[in-house]
Amino acid sequence: MVRVREWEPAKAPGHDLEAWRRLYNEMLAADLPGEPHWRAERLREYFAVTMPGEARADWFLEDDSGEVIGVAGLRLLDEIGVMEIYVHPGRRRAGAGRTLAAACVRRAYESGRSVLGAEVAAGTPGTLFYPSLGFRLSSVEERNLLDLATVDWGRMREHATRTGSGYTIEYFPGGPPDDLLPAYALAKQVVQGEDDDIELSPSSYSAGRLADSLAVLHARGLTPYVVCAVHNRSGAIAGLTEVVAPAQHPERADQYDTVVVPAHRGYGLGLAMKARMLLELRSAVPELRDVQTWTAMENEPMARVNAELGFQPDRQWYEYEADVAELARSLRIE
Ligand SMILES: CC(C)(COP(=O)(O)OP(=O)(O)OC[C@H]1O[C@@H](n2cnc3c(N)ncnc32)[C@H](O)[C@@H]1OP(=O)(O)O)[C@@H](O)C(=O)NCCC(=O)NCCS
Repeated sequence: MVRVREWEPAKAPGHDLEAWRRLYNEMLAADLPGEPHWRAERLREYFAVTMPGEARADWFLEDDSGEVIGVAGLRLLDEIGVMEIYVHPGRRRAGAGRTLAAACVRRAYESGRSVLGAEVAAGTPGTLFYPSLGFRLSSVEERNLLDLATVDWGRMREHATRTGSGYTIEYFPGGPPDDLLPAYALAKQVVQGEDDDIELSPSSYSAGRLADSLAVLHARGLTPYVVCAVHNRSGAIAGLTEVVAPAQHPERADQYDTVVVPAHRGYGLGLAMKARMLLELRSAVPELRDVQTWTAMENEPMARVNAELGFQPDRQWYEYEADVAELARSLRIE
């Protein structure tokens, strides 16, 4: 017999967190060899802290002896849910994944979410599992990795200083200071507005929301590092790049947004900011071995900057989506 047990990371005993970590690292060893294993540092906070208005739910699937067969996590965002399911490599193809998916779908259905998403590395069994439940592929991204051992640091210093003369490149470990947040939010908003009609879509980048998300990152053990290009004459933020170093796997940092405001393009700011960031990270995070970045396949200019810095294509990641009501019907949950 197996049983699904919901657990609450904020209150759970330490051995539950350890059980999650052991299973996750076993999954990594089997499916994604070379991926840094997770440490215990700030693991509880990583799960327990969420953005205001968001929530999450977690389950273990255990056998009679209390052995963990698999884990599931569901993040409940504004309108959608995002699920993650990992089954022990020795316990697969026996319905464990499907049982855990049913727990996620039930919660998403009961909490009124209409869409569920999941992210899976190409070449892993998840790419067969999610379609078998009725998910469809919604987007493909390419992960690129920059191995710091391959970086020519002299060249990096040249990139970092070669910008148009009217700009200053500034580094903010921990994130931009409060007084810069409105200008920072504006830069993000302008670039976001290139795709959406700004009048129609209220911006998700208000200074207040940025302050919230910075506080949440810190509380989860995810330290943000930011480099900005400041336009000297106007004081405007002409561009920015963000990297996050997680306490759970400090060997690998995550590149978040990089944006250059359209009026300030063509001055080498993208390359200069990213090069400065790498120079700073090298001393700020001594354990760092590489930086990962996901680029939508069509983002040409960013792909060029990344190639110039030495980022190498690693593997593709697939995003799947499904309608919660349809999943509930096919898994007989209603
Ligand atoms: C994906 C995963 C959760 C599936 O768990 P599982 O317990 O084996 O899944 P189930 O037994 O419930 O399988 C349900 C269905 O999915 C499909 N499926 C799952 N794994 C499959 C595989 N390796 N090959 C073909 N079909 C597969 C089948 O249709 C299966 O039904 P069937 O066994 O009756 O044919 C598990 O393989 C896993 O943890 N993989 C690693 C997670 C992952 O992809 N990580 C990458 C980073 S996110």
